[in-house]
Amino acid sequence: MAGTSTSERGAWNSKLGFILAAAGSAVGLGNIWGFPTKVATEGGAAYLIVYLICTFLIGFPVMVAELAIGRKSGKNPVGAFKALSSNKFFPLVGLWGVICGVMILSFYTVIAGWAFGFAFEEIFYYLGWQEAADLLTDTGNGWKNAIIASAFMFGTIKIITGGISDGIERATKFMMPLLIGIIVIMIGYVLTQPGASEGVREYLLPDFSKINADLIFSAMGQAFFSLSLGMGALITYGSYLNKKENIPQAAAFVTLADVGIAFLAGLLIIPAMYVAKNAGIEIFVGDQLASSTDLVFQILPALFHTIGGAVGLILGVVFFLLLSIAALTSTISLLEVPVSFVIDEFEVKRKKAAWSVGLGVLAISIVVSFYPALIGHFDNIFNNLGLPIGGLLTCIFVAFVWKTDSAITEMEFGFAGIRQTLFSKVWPVFIYVVCPLAILYNIVTNFL
Ligand code: PFF
Repeated sequence: MAGTSTSERGAWNSKLGFILAAAGSAVGLGNIWGFPTKVATEGGAAYLIVYLICTFLIGFPVMVAELAIGRKSGKNPVGAFKALSSNKFFPLVGLWGVICGVMILSFYTVIAGWAFGFAFEEIFYYLGWQEAADLLTDTGNGWKNAIIASAFMFGTIKIITGGISDGIERATKFMMPLLIGIIVIMIGYVLTQPGASEGVREYLLPDFSKINADLIFSAMGQAFFSLSLGMGALITYGSYLNKKENIPQAAAFVTLADVGIAFLAGLLIIPAMYVAKNAGIEIFVGDQLASSTDLVFQILPALFHTIGGAVGLILGVVFFLLLSIAALTSTISLLEVPVSFVIDEFEVKRKKAAWSVGLGVLAISIVVSFYPALIGHFDNIFNNLGLPIGGLLTCIFVAFVWKTDSAITEMEFGFAGIRQTLFSKVWPVFIYVVCPLAILYNIVTNFL
């Protein structure tokens, strides 16, 4: 196996830097686009509750496991499984993670490109440049999609070539607080508008009869995607983590940041939909709420246009920039997984690895740009199915191959008294039993 030393690989400069970078990975289109639209279309507050349960009971323990694997091995997902056992199967799990990362990134950049394009659409609309605005709203325009997705990919590659602390950490340290500030200001505005309270009720008052197997599967997939689990992103980020840091605590911060921002995004978007309804914009198709793409890429722009004037312009531009920033901190981590794999396993320098992997993924993104119908298929295979499978096999690895006790020994660095805590008794039960069974049950029921 190629040996890249830790100093060459880079490391996080500070605990806050790591938490913001990992939270930046977690917080993305999944929180601001995916979560609110799933809440709106799949069960309102009932969905929110199931999602929170999946996040804390299944996602959080798996996140701790991924970070421990990453830090102990100091390697990318493939190298990590190789380093921690001689079992020949598990490096393939890491490789599956790398493949999922590449494929998710290939369509993620296209959607991120839509969001980025809409920020300009709002400006062109305001200026009365209707043709240019229409071009940017056309999510089926292959050339337009390909150009903006390429710009997004170049931005991501540029940050990754800067390395861990000077590139990823510095960029996310700046972007994450900005993102939270923007969401809070927008919520303040939307909640004071007529119609918002109907949305708040829909979001926060649960109707438990809506809970069924489909809803649970969807919420679990959403939790995995949103927390960036199941494809080794947090193994990779964990590999740059200092031995002084407390892994369960860091994972708790990242989980809370992710859930917190998803919750805030829901509090922004669901009421905004009802404000739009109040303003006469169609938010239902038949008796169903508009689906995800329509919701964020049609209803919200329509709302911004209805508000009109400088306020409509500012809200529109700021919202879509927010979505783009959140997406960028996630594409960074999606690209870092295959890049770290190439750096470690083939002893390639960071810059060369970032450009070659980035351009390779961009080639797939360009195909997706011209055939956006591929997004749904890729999403089903690599996200809805791929990530839970990755999470399941990670639990099996930690439980039966590496052993939870070795993971706890790793966690003693940065958390000296861990063996005296309830966490050290309960976490293994989740890794042995609760998480694998819950994930397996979900995969099987969905498959059937
Ligand atoms: N967590 C990101 C989101 O919610 O948009 C998506 C993501 C990033 C998934 C990184 C997986 C990953 F490794």
